Formats: sequence, C-alpha cells, structure tokens
Amino acid sequence: MGLFTKRQLTGQVDKNSLPRHVAVIMDGNGRWAQKRGLPRSAGHKAGAESFRRLGTYCKKLGIDYLTVYAFSTENWKRPPEEIDGIMQLLRRYLHECIDTMERDGNRLRFLGDLSVLDDDLKELIRETNEISARIEGFQANVCLNYGGRDEIVHAARAFARDCAAGEKRSDALTEEMFSQYLYSNGLPDPELLIRPGGEKRISNYLLWQCAYSEFYFCDTLWPDFDEREFDKALIAYQHRERRFGGVKP
Ligand code: FPP
Repeated sequence: MGLFTKRQLTGQVDKNSLPRHVAVIMDGNGRWAQKRGLPRSAGHKAGAESFRRLGTYCKKLGIDYLTVYAFSTENWKRPPEEIDGIMQLLRRYLHECIDTMERDGNRLRFLGDLSVLDDDLKELIRETNEISARIEGFQANVCLNYGGRDEIVHAARAFARDCAAGEKRSDALTEEMFSQYLYSNGLPDPELLIRPGGEKRISNYLLWQCAYSEFYFCDTLWPDFDEREFDKALIAYQHRERRFGGVKP
C-alpha cells in the first residue's frame, strides 16, 4: 500500500510524478478510417488532430516533451497517395505552427533524415526551428523519415568522420558522447512510451532512447486516444517501479 500515493489509488494522475518526456507511436489511423468506410487519409487527418489535442494536454499537465512517430524510414513502402496525404497534413501543420507557436510558447523539432523531403517542407521546418530557438516552453518532437537503426548508423558515421578528422578519439567514446550524435541530441530520454492500436512492438522507434522507458500498450486506435486515455497511460506509468537495473531501495 505504501508504494502508491492516494491519487494513484483513486485512479487520478499524480501531478507530482509526471514523466518529463512522453513518446508515442501513433498507430491505428488506417483501421479507424476503415471502420467508418473512409479513406486512410481521413484516419491520418484524425490522427493529426489527436496529436494536436494531446500536445495541448501535455502542456497543461506540465509535461515538457511529446515525441510522435509521424513517418518512418519504412513508410515509403506505402501507396504514393497515402504518402502525399501525410506530407500534405504536415505542410498544413507547419503553416499553422509558424502562425501560432510564438504566441502560444510552443516549440517544435523534427527528428529524422530530413534531406530527402520536398524543398518547401524543408523551408517550413527551417522557419519553425528559427522560431523555436527564440522561445521557451513545451516542445513537440515529430519523427519524420525516422528509423532508430538509421539514426544510430547516421550517428556512427558522423562520429567516424570526427575521428578521421582528428577531432575525436574512438577509445574515448562514451554513451553520453554518442547520444550527442543522435537526432535527439539534447533531449532527455522518454520515461514513457505509449503505443495505442493493439500492436506490441517498438517498430524501429527511438531504439537508443527507450533503453529504460516504461512501455504502455492499449487497443484504442490513435484517433480515439483522448485525454482520458492519456491519463490511463500516465496512471499505469505511475504504478510502475523504475529500478534502472538496480534493486529496490
Ligand atoms: C500509423 O497508423 C500512422 C502513420 C504511419 C502516420 C501517422 C501520421 C499522422 C498522424 C500525420 C502526421 C501529422 C502531423 C501533424 C504530425 P497506420 O496507418 O499504420 O494505421 P493501421 O495500422 O490502422 O493501418
């Protein structure tokens, strides 16, 4: 009994032990649309809405970072019209952010290999980076053309280049130093990873960063994953005992 606070026992979120960083795999958009007889693109649109809503909710709770998997290095295998639809949603979202992020004090960052994106998307991302650098506050991270293995290989290459240039020594490499070569440089590791949509796998997401994350899986499809569902994930997280390989004190 002593392990849990009163709030946890009554099924409420304990505002004093929130994760700083929550990562989400936004799964189930396609099935959500299919159930309604709608095209998959409608599912992604509803998924983008869920992301917006939960970003606002995280900010209200005092969670510093929400990181979502918007497009993986494997998602290029999807039909071209679905890929175009997702890129179009991102475009719209970026325009919206440019207009509102300074006023609302929201930062935005993209993680992934952005070099292959259309030039206009790259330009919009550059603008949001510029605005984010001027402000403080809640930060949403969008993983785009992102793969956990790709990120590690990309980091290893950059480190090898620095060694070849004589700027780094391979035998001096530490975990902390290696982290600085990742797309997530500077971000704390997510304490909680949420995957709605029924699957129980990590799908090449934040492989390095999730070493000690608590995982929360549920069947709710991402577009239906609302504030109440988010609370349930937080409460489950708050019931976990995090030992980081140690023993109970
Ligand atoms: C997975 O569901 C979802 C994706 C691969 C795309 C997620 C992208 C968005 C929600 C749009 C991004 C926009 C912003 C603004 C961040 P699925 O299609 O695999 O679903 P299924 O398993 O039911 O088929």
